[in-house]
Amino acid sequence: MPQHKFIVCNYQHSLTSGIVSWQAPSNIALVKYWGKYGEQMPMNASVSFTLKHCNTKTSVSFEKKQSEGFQFEVFLDGKREEGFEPKINKFFERVEAYLPFLKDFKFKIETSNSFPHSSGIASSASGMSALALCLMEMEQRMQPSITDDYFKEKASFLARLGSGSACRSVEGPLIVWGEHPEIDGSSNLFGTKYPFDIHENFRNYQDTILLVDKGEKQVSSTLGHDLMVDHPFAAERFRQAKDNLSKLIPVFKNGDLPEFIKIVESEALSLHAMMMTSLPYFILMKPNTLEIINRIWKFRDETGSKVCFTLDAGANVHVLYPKLEKDNVLHFIKKELLQYCKNGEFIEDEVGLGATNILV
Ligand code: PMV
Repeated sequence: MPQHKFIVCNYQHSLTSGIVSWQAPSNIALVKYWGKYGEQMPMNASVSFTLKHCNTKTSVSFEKKQSEGFQFEVFLDGKREEGFEPKINKFFERVEAYLPFLKDFKFKIETSNSFPHSSGIASSASGMSALALCLMEMEQRMQPSITDDYFKEKASFLARLGSGSACRSVEGPLIVWGEHPEIDGSSNLFGTKYPFDIHENFRNYQDTILLVDKGEKQVSSTLGHDLMVDHPFAAERFRQAKDNLSKLIPVFKNGDLPEFIKIVESEALSLHAMMMTSLPYFILMKPNTLEIINRIWKFRDETGSKVCFTLDAGANVHVLYPKLEKDNVLHFIKKELLQYCKNGEFIEDEVGLGATNILV
């Protein structure tokens, strides 16, 4: 069912050629999205911190054409990347109803990530968000009356159709995606800014990403989401995620870090528990992931630190902590945790405010 709110009829202006450029961040979920229905709709609401330094820059050059069908080429770091093209083609097919001009142009899509492609950090969230924003900027040039709110909402809506979690990569610092009864304005169709008070404990919250395993993902998230369809614990998992988001509302308000840690770590382990108990089952954590988790727990016990971890659908560990603890925790990470990273590699990141237009 098309979402009519996002269909613009009869553009005011036409374009012949030009270029649009956006930088969009990655995000890290605190309450995880795992399981979807229909066209990229989440089975439960999720919430994420937007990151600051892990991002994708994308430029789209466009030129009017007469031929039929989609026409585009994708370049990663200046090199043609045909491997990305089927995914973009699928994305174009999905969003064409909302961007009816896509077949009228030939596109050159040039993209680069601030993190290495082989780092095991998914570029789909930042990449799909940056591309969606570029296409929205084209639309805004054709329809200048589009408001800022509509622009961001529709960019998130389009990004979602490329990769679910990408809809949380348009704005920051804290983004909700998926309907939740206690969060006004939350929607399955796009990400929205968390609307309530956020305690200053969470300002500039740190995320140091430990690169444990840089290999290709063993399991695509598409397959992972599908495995939730007949998963024996699915209903309970979706209820748990909803409750965890409810529990985070007072935590975000009063800055209760011990409670924050409990919820965030439980979410990470529940996500991986879903993978371990699906059919087929799989384990994405590596022995070094567990070493790191145990060391974080020990450090917390011994020092009273409020450091904690979360995980994506992979072996890398996101180490989360308040800015106030930065020196201490970085010292601990360097001394005790880097030995468990591939080539001692890690990325220092923190909470950011969302995508930005790049003027070219
Ligand atoms: O956006 P997708 O379809 O790649 O799914 C990503 C899901 C997780 O990263 C594992 C969790 C989340 O909410 O980001």
